[in-house]
Amino acid sequence: MNVLITGGTGFIGALLARAHVERGDNVIIFDIAPNMSRIQDVAGAVTVIQGNLSYAAEVNNVVCDNRIERILHLGSMLSAPSDANPWASFQVNVIGTMNVLEAARLFDAGTVVFPSTIATFGLDTDRVADDATVQHPTTMYGCGKAYCENLGRFYRNKFGVDFRGIRFPSVIGPGAKVRHVSQYNAWMIEFPLRGKPFECFVTENTKMPTMYFKDAANAVDAIASAPIESIKTVNYNVAGITPTTSAKEIETVVRRHVPGAHITYIPDPVIMKYYETFRVETFDDSRAREEWGWCPAYPDIDTVLLDFKAELREHPDWYT
Ligand SMILES: NC(=O)c1ccc[n+]([C@@H]2O[C@H](COP(=O)([O-])OP(=O)(O)OC[C@H]3O[C@@H](n4cnc5c(N)ncnc54)[C@H](O)[C@@H]3O)[C@@H](O)[C@H]2O)c1
Repeated sequence: MNVLITGGTGFIGALLARAHVERGDNVIIFDIAPNMSRIQDVAGAVTVIQGNLSYAAEVNNVVCDNRIERILHLGSMLSAPSDANPWASFQVNVIGTMNVLEAARLFDAGTVVFPSTIATFGLDTDRVADDATVQHPTTMYGCGKAYCENLGRFYRNKFGVDFRGIRFPSVIGPGAKVRHVSQYNAWMIEFPLRGKPFECFVTENTKMPTMYFKDAANAVDAIASAPIESIKTVNYNVAGITPTTSAKEIETVVRRHVPGAHITYIPDPVIMKYYETFRVETFDDSRAREEWGWCPAYPDIDTVLLDFKAELREHPDWYT
């Protein structure tokens, strides 16, 4: 199968590129700034095209030229860069997704998987968010993603594009560099594993639903492969670590594995302000479980930490 992975050298996209190469697919990566270190083991087996999602002609060209049969649309600006530059975020996340949907329509490119985010929830949510919870995002990133979930549904209904959306919670794994509201949960694990002190920038009792990056890739793969008749809700929450752990609970598990871990707390008032309006603790993914059998392989911090440690040991140069 000819698979296009936009953002395919990114944190999650690289895992999908590797998985598709391993199963013999023809993988085309479209990325504005390809990070070849993340896919160095399969670099010779993929086609990497440097391009910008914001340009419709570039997106049309890659889909048409390569006779694409499935699109995993991972390319995106993340939360902190989107809020720092909302104008660029609109071009990449909103126009870029419109361009992908148009290309899928024009060139009959098969299933389109779109990763959305828990950040599409915001104001007026309670402790539990499910697929019927009102989406009132407070960030540029969340606004753009919420729009594109609905844009995808529109393309599905009007043009028959096989659009499927999944909302990730905060995704953790090794090598992430950008500090944002929920990055503490990955660094709480990564810094001690690397023998570095970690100054946590949220309070001990802060909770954010979280998923391991391999489960995020697994979820993209699972929804892409699900029979078309199983997709009813169209945009789905997918949960990972359940129940959601507080910063202190993560620290406790880390200390079991890294006894001398140096972890302190200096909450950042700007980040804590975000948690005053964002209260979701339980990310209810029952529809994904019921409709297409979603089940995380890394459902607790212990399992995540062991694999995190193995990744850093076995592939240090992927995560520099
Ligand atoms: N990481 C998370 O916590 C998280 C949470 C929820 C949703 N998501 C979503 O999952 C997807 C993958 O995220 P990730 O963590 O792998 O991010 P990432 O930043 O590691 O990867 C995104 C990739 O997109 C590329 N890209 C950015 N702008 C582009 C453009 N204009 N044209 C082409 N490529 C462009 C980047 O170069 C990068 O390789 C994104 O859609 C993101 O919004 C991620």
